[in-house]
Amino acid sequence: MSKKVLVATEKPFAKMAVDGIRQILTEAGYEIILLENYKDKADLLKAAENVDAIIFRSDLITAEVIGATKNLKIAVRAGAGYDNVDLKAATEKGVVIMNTPGQNSNAVAELVFGLMLNLARRGYTGKSGTELLGKSIGLHGYGAVGRRVASIAKGFGMDVYAFDPFVKAEIVKADGVKPVDNAEDLYKSCDYVSLHMPKTKETAGSINWSKLSLMKKDGVLINTARAEVIDEPSLLKMFEERSGFMYGSDVEPACKEAIAAKFSGRYFFTQKKMGAQTEEANINAGLAAARQIVAFFEKGDVRFKVN
Ligand code: 3PG
Repeated sequence: MSKKVLVATEKPFAKMAVDGIRQILTEAGYEIILLENYKDKADLLKAAENVDAIIFRSDLITAEVIGATKNLKIAVRAGAGYDNVDLKAATEKGVVIMNTPGQNSNAVAELVFGLMLNLARRGYTGKSGTELLGKSIGLHGYGAVGRRVASIAKGFGMDVYAFDPFVKAEIVKADGVKPVDNAEDLYKSCDYVSLHMPKTKETAGSINWSKLSLMKKDGVLINTARAEVIDEPSLLKMFEERSGFMYGSDVEPACKEAIAAKFSGRYFFTQKKMGAQTEEANINAGLAAARQIVAFFEKGDVRFKVN
């Protein structure tokens, strides 16, 4: 019986990515089942029931979803962050979870500059703004996205600093980026701080008053990581107490209404998570996911396993 692969994307891939995924799976003799743009969890539960593999994005792969499957062997997150997956439930059921690290990082990195420019140019309202040239940027997290941001920032003539507890200073230095010893130093000394950590138990809510309050008078915070890494009461306090503070985020924070009511012109939020929503990123991550599934079934390749 041919393997059945479900592509479950509440936020759909570009058509070219779906075509490429279909080609890879069809060539392997697999069947592709598409569940795009769905609104109801029940649709995902039903579609997942009889498949051998799932390709997904920010879709919630909960214990309920995993529990609803009968044949599932592997699910691949076409992207980097897998905080949307119940890894424990997957492991208990013997389901391999993988991600596709680095495949969509350029798209996310480019959005960092979209957010920074939007804020620096005051939303293109006619008000005089500022330039990125000569400003400093601190990268909190130096994985694939952080590295790509560093490289683009250098093109803008920015002075680039980074902190990542899991990356050696020599690696950061080799990229022409200045490593700092602790996160606090980034917040203290940089004009822009850009967040590039995954959402984990440790990082959720970790960008709090103890870090934010160290920011420069006109400091700008950019978040293309996860909305939940920010401690929102501290964020609101920053808006209240620091009239020069600005915040750009890929997705709205829960306290968006409170910010919008009082701090117009000092924030920009995407309505839906858009960092990786480019044709190129969809193709890179989607096709990588399809290839990883075929390599897993045909050769037992578990290189990108995260559980
Ligand atoms: C990721 O973790 O890869 C990014 O946040 C992209 O998420 P998306 O697939 O929902 O756009």
